[in-house]
Amino acid sequence: MIFVNFKTYQQGTGGDAISLIKLLEEISHESQVKIIPVVQAADVKEAVMTSKLEVWAQHIDPVEFGAHTGYVLPEAVVEDGAMGVFLNHSEHKFESFDDLKKAHSRAKEVGLKTLIFAADLNELENIMKLNPSYVSYEPPELVGSKITSVARAKPEIIAKAVEITRKHELPLIVGAGIKSYEDVRKSLELGAVGVAVASDIVTAKDPKKEILDLVQGFI
Ligand code: G3P
Repeated sequence: MIFVNFKTYQQGTGGDAISLIKLLEEISHESQVKIIPVVQAADVKEAVMTSKLEVWAQHIDPVEFGAHTGYVLPEAVVEDGAMGVFLNHSEHKFESFDDLKKAHSRAKEVGLKTLIFAADLNELENIMKLNPSYVSYEPPELVGSKITSVARAKPEIIAKAVEITRKHELPLIVGAGIKSYEDVRKSLELGAVGVAVASDIVTAKDPKKEILDLVQGFI
């Protein structure tokens, strides 16, 4: 499976996000590789209305109905049709583990699947306590890398992450700099079940070419 994180890239926002989702849907259908677009909260509703893909939101906050100006309410993304949510991405971390725990339990309360990011093995061990749907190992220093990828630069850490997640029977996703079918294949060989990708697809001159290349890693 491939999680495509649209972040707040221009090409991943509003109308452009919808065009990209249509492309992802076409390639997911042809290749039979599960692709999950992970969009901004503001784009969830339209993404769900225009595609059959499972759509996820990039973040929710640990809040309930009430006076929380500007926060992302879990119930709101569910009402818009999101099936899951990213939590604790290195670009949007919670201030404390307690906040992450509360956001995660709110996600479960409203019926969202969850993927929690870990920047290193210590954080990964800690996250196991929350029993999310997926965990992701994503070293922040390699996120957006044009030169290398987590699969090339940190294969031994991926292998250790797999040992940890297997003990808890949780599926591991890896991300950061993933940009080729070799990166995908290596990640799967090491025991990950999928990858999280952003810049290689969302900011590509030819996103179709990049996605077609990545899906080859699963075939
Ligand atoms: O969530 C995945 C993302 O952070 C990876 O970004 O640009 O390194 O593929 P990128």
